[in-house]
Amino acid sequence: MAPAKHSLLLCVPLLCFILSVSRPVFAERKPVFACDVTSNPGLLNFSFCDPSLDLKTRVDDLVSRLTLQEKFGWLVSGARGVSRLGIPNYEWWSEALHGVSYTGPGTKFASPVPGATSFPQVILTGATFNESLFELIGKVVSTEARAMYNVGLAGLTFWSPNVNIFRDPRWGRGQETPGEDPLLSSKYGAAYVRGLQQTEDGNEERLKVAACCKHYTAYDLDNWKGIQRYTFNALVTQQDLDDTYQPPFKSCVLEGNVASVMCSYNQVNGKPTCGDPDLLAGVIRDEWKLNGYIVSDCDSLHEMFNSQHYTKTPEETAALAVKSGLDLNCGSFLITNAPAALSRGLLNVTDIDRAVANNFATLMRLGFFDGDPSNRLYGNLGAGDVCTQANQELAREVARQGIVLLKNTETSLPLSPTAIKSLAVIGPNSNVSHTMLGNYEGTPCKYTTPLQGLTASVPTVYHPGCADVSCATAQLEDAKKIASTADAVVLVMGSDQSIEREGLDRVNITLPGEQQDLITELQKCPKDL
Ligand SMILES: *[C@@H]1O[C@H](CO)[C@@H](O)[C@H](O)[C@H]1NC(C)=O
Ligand SMILES: *[C@@H]1O[C@H](CO)[C@@H](O)[C@H](O)[C@H]1NC(C)=O
Ligand SMILES: *[C@@H]1O[C@H](CO)[C@@H](O)[C@H](O)[C@H]1NC(C)=O
Ligand SMILES: *[C@@H]1O[C@H](CO)[C@@H](O)[C@H](O)[C@H]1NC(C)=O
Ligand SMILES: *[C@@H]1O[C@H](CO)[C@@H](O)[C@H](O)[C@H]1NC(C)=O
Repeated sequence: MAPAKHSLLLCVPLLCFILSVSRPVFAERKPVFACDVTSNPGLLNFSFCDPSLDLKTRVDDLVSRLTLQEKFGWLVSGARGVSRLGIPNYEWWSEALHGVSYTGPGTKFASPVPGATSFPQVILTGATFNESLFELIGKVVSTEARAMYNVGLAGLTFWSPNVNIFRDPRWGRGQETPGEDPLLSSKYGAAYVRGLQQTEDGNEERLKVAACCKHYTAYDLDNWKGIQRYTFNALVTQQDLDDTYQPPFKSCVLEGNVASVMCSYNQVNGKPTCGDPDLLAGVIRDEWKLNGYIVSDCDSLHEMFNSQHYTKTPEETAALAVKSGLDLNCGSFLITNAPAALSRGLLNVTDIDRAVANNFATLMRLGFFDGDPSNRLYGNLGAGDVCTQANQELAREVARQGIVLLKNTETSLPLSPTAIKSLAVIGPNSNVSHTMLGNYEGTPCKYTTPLQGLTASVPTVYHPGCADVSCATAQLEDAKKIASTADAVVLVMGSDQSIEREGLDRVNITLPGEQQDLITELQKCPKDL
């Protein structure tokens, strides 16, 4: 057996490599917008369609023209158009956690934009500790998002970032966050939001796209030993709330000027967050002065009533949420139940007007009521601005800056592509593509598996080592045989969405199954293999 010169371990936590792209021909698709005065000059008579007026005047004008029934249609994420006023349906739910995502009905990938730049999963981006990089990523994502809006494939309101503190490392959604540190999460949240939202003309009233910091608050449990996020009651002291869980949200609003905050499913100290007037109206609106809208998770209000049994009737639930400061409901709960809440006197028209005014103001800042966007700021962005070489190079740069080297004994690294005549690539994540995207992913410009990437530099031999990441039985003999013939060994181990994901927490953070045995065997001195 020829002894291997080096052996090293490369644990790649859900990151992505993106290289080049081919762009198909343009297909005719239209963005969704109101106030199309070109095809309907009568709309020029409406102040809300006049971009030269101030925001408040326009919003007040619009709200004053709506019937009560029409207003209910703007309390929910699948908002109902008002054709007599030239207002189309609008889908509020798009996502852009680490690139434009196909999660949510507001965005899809199709010609002329079949894929977008996929940045590393946020837990890795957080490990760069590079605030200016966070903002740069946001800028690229919003450019691609706006381009996709222009070709009718995306909305303008993105429910990202996730700034929950990853306090318990067994949480299935920790991958979406910048980690456990309130300071880093605060800086990440504000910088990513600025990158997404800020327009190049420096006008704070305008939004490039609208971001949303979620999920407010003290949420880091999905489904752990049968305890579900929908009914979980987080018991948190005021000090822990202020020191740990709230800072990223506060920073999103105060430093990032975020356009939205999403309340979570869980309760905090016995109160559902979407029905707590102190947490919503008190803190977000009055104390932090949110300029934008408060939205519920999908469908928090339904859970508040049906799972938590916190309220006695659906109408009472709707009234509690809106009076607590909620403006928009992901789902249909408010369009179904707000009318009865109003007719029973649990809500009044002033409450409804406040909510829809906050929602409309956000869309107005995005230019939604300015007519055809093609002649306006960002109107020239299109398919050619997505998956550019520069955007993909930035994604690669983030991956480079985020990779953490824990140990480099005998200076095994860097590997020399000329000295290595044969590289053994072993492990269940060696040749995975979709795994590398993490969750809340979009279709990437291109997939490159770790094995494909390494094979582009040096000759490789490959064995997965286990049937899948759960690795019930490590295939030790086969893996050892491969390793013993190589000059160096790269192990690509770790987890994927089958081990930890939204709706699935872990009970420990050890490597799954027999992965550790595989590593232990292969890191033995090569001559002992
Ligand atoms: C606009 O308003 C004016 C008067 O306020 C009215 O005469 C005109 O017909 C309106 N235009 C349209 C197209 O509705
Ligand atoms: C942060 O990232 C930017 C962009 O890649 C880079 O120019 C800069 O050097 C990085 N900062 C640090 C401290 O590494
Ligand atoms: C409507 O309810 C709000 C509280 O949510 C209250 O401040 C306001 O006075 C009420 N308005 C009317 C007209 O009853
Ligand atoms: C690696 O994965 C790619 C993409 O799924 C596949 O085409 C290729 O055959 C795989 N290579 C090996 C050696 O299994
Ligand atoms: C760790 O958790 C997994 C399930 O995720 C379980 O199969 C395994 O037995 C646990 N390991 C230990 C050491 O408790």
